[in-house]
Amino acid sequence: MAVLVIIPAAGMGTRFGGDLPKQFQPLAGRPILLNVIERFFMIEDVSLIVVAVAEPLLAGVKQSERVRFVAGGETRHESVMKAFHAAEGEYDLVAVHDAVRPFFRTSTFRLLLAAAQQHGASLPAMPITDTVHEVRDGFVTSTLNRSTLVAAQTPQCFRYDVLKDVLARGEASATDEASLAAKLGHQVQVLPGDPHNIKITHPDDLARAEEHFGQWSNE
Ligand code: C5P
Repeated sequence: MAVLVIIPAAGMGTRFGGDLPKQFQPLAGRPILLNVIERFFMIEDVSLIVVAVAEPLLAGVKQSERVRFVAGGETRHESVMKAFHAAEGEYDLVAVHDAVRPFFRTSTFRLLLAAAQQHGASLPAMPITDTVHEVRDGFVTSTLNRSTLVAAQTPQCFRYDVLKDVLARGEASATDEASLAAKLGHQVQVLPGDPHNIKITHPDDLARAEEHFGQWSNE
């Protein structure tokens, strides 16, 4: 089974502060993105990883047979599209993964690949324990039924033909391809996510990731 991995990493990470976008901040001595790439290297079926980065950064990266860097687009979805089209060759499945989630479990990834093979698409997600309100101008307008809600993680996995269809027909403003897939009528199976598969978004997350690195990266 040939798996293509796409990592959109072309954002400037303005929420994080500092000069470096968050995906290039060091974690355990190496950029977060490199930690992510190396984790995918552990899975033999991954034949190519395409990383979309901001154009000015392209000159400073080292291309290799298994990892290719391409210029990203204006939006995350556009970056995914550019990475997808840069991958020549034939693949059965494609995974799209956040550049700042270095602690996904390889065992979960394998289950997601199998689910995508069977149903067309899959994603890991966590149940929501907090109550979620819709708020306008500082006041609650409605309260969502949390028993039917989950918080999506990545890697999100697709059969190659499904993602191709999603990228050809989906809107460029989408925040993830799995929601587009579902909207377009594809089946997207939800599997249990991992509590440690955090998205390093704020400096506090990075401090937590550093503190638990040994434990979380071995799971
Ligand atoms: O900003 P946000 O966290 O929603 O971005 C999600 C992911 O998409 C990040 O990994 C970011 O680097 C990436 N991205 C991208 N191209 C853009 C904007 C964001 O690859 N134009």
